[in-house]
Amino acid sequence: MSQSMEKKKIILTGDRPTGRLHIGHYVGSLRRRVELQNDPSFEKIFIMIADAQALTDNADNPEKLRQNVLEVTLDYLAAGLDPNKVNIFIQSEVPELTELAFYFMNLTTVSRVQRNPTVKTEIQMRNFEANIPLGFFCYPVSQAADIALFHGTVVPVGEDQKPMIELTNEIVRRFNNIYGETLDECEILLPDNQACMRLPGTDGKAKMSKSLGNCIYLSDPEQVVEQKIRSMYTDPTHLKVTDPGHLEGNAVFTYLDAFCRDEHFDKYWQDYKNLQELKDHYTRGGLGDMKCKRFLNQIMQEMLSPIRERRNYWEQHIPDVYDILRQGTTTARTQGKQTIAQVRRAMKIIYLEDTDLQKSQVEKYTITQ
Ligand code: TRP
Repeated sequence: MSQSMEKKKIILTGDRPTGRLHIGHYVGSLRRRVELQNDPSFEKIFIMIADAQALTDNADNPEKLRQNVLEVTLDYLAAGLDPNKVNIFIQSEVPELTELAFYFMNLTTVSRVQRNPTVKTEIQMRNFEANIPLGFFCYPVSQAADIALFHGTVVPVGEDQKPMIELTNEIVRRFNNIYGETLDECEILLPDNQACMRLPGTDGKAKMSKSLGNCIYLSDPEQVVEQKIRSMYTDPTHLKVTDPGHLEGNAVFTYLDAFCRDEHFDKYWQDYKNLQELKDHYTRGGLGDMKCKRFLNQIMQEMLSPIRERRNYWEQHIPDVYDILRQGTTTARTQGKQTIAQVRRAMKIIYLEDTDLQKSQVEKYTITQ
């Protein structure tokens, strides 16, 4: 329980296993997790494959999730998550999460969840309006349990998850108020720039998403990445090379904002010192899209090639991948059991092992002659 000792930093985050991960996931949170696994100020790192959450809007297609648990794990390992430093586990394998979510449901209200902007958008996107599955509606509460069960204090996720973090902290505060200090509040850790926050699709549309078919996957082969970059959306008014180009809404430049570092110019394009110089030339006119795309492709291939190599390795070692999941899940369950014991004690919902309770009740009813 949280005493006056220095607060431990624990990371809890995760992804729904609905498909392979793409470069939007990478800059949005995955890259950060890989960095943080080497930061000694974090005591534990839990990365959860949120299959139970994914079921809330895929109840009729469990096979999809079944396949993608492996795909997402492969993407994690490919991105550089080290199973010796992080616990990768499967949500549905930790039943304590369901239990905590059930208790948490009493600590918030229907109208509170109804106001959640991320849930609102998702309901619209899925045409759920009239028929919202109850489980789907409750997933923000279950997500609060995901974080609290692991005493997660730092949650690296995208901006769209902000309402979930706020709800988590409301529930945790309410829990601690009613039952006594037991659970920890958490903070969101957002990507460090706007481009990473919401990477657009290759078509320039607001979001990279599987259903829009505008993704570059971490597992795409070299030629596929090159082809996708070559046909990327830029500036429709930039017809001739001499025309001034526009950066706003120009996906190539948004990607450069997300991926390009000064050293890339040293390495691949010595005409410029940094991205600002390149942008200045582009907006002045006289710089063609193809050259910018070639540069972006070089940067992307440099980033993706070690990821691709690691994926190739793990694809040939799938039983080991399952061992990693097994181990991560065992650790997660141990933690889950511990927290649930704390929670039950705080809520006073232990009976069978509570000898004090039983003794006092025996005394209460014992007829003394
Ligand atoms: N909702 C997250 C997503 O869609 C996945 C998730 C489930 C999660 N539980 C979590 C993220 C707990 C962070 C913490 O990507």
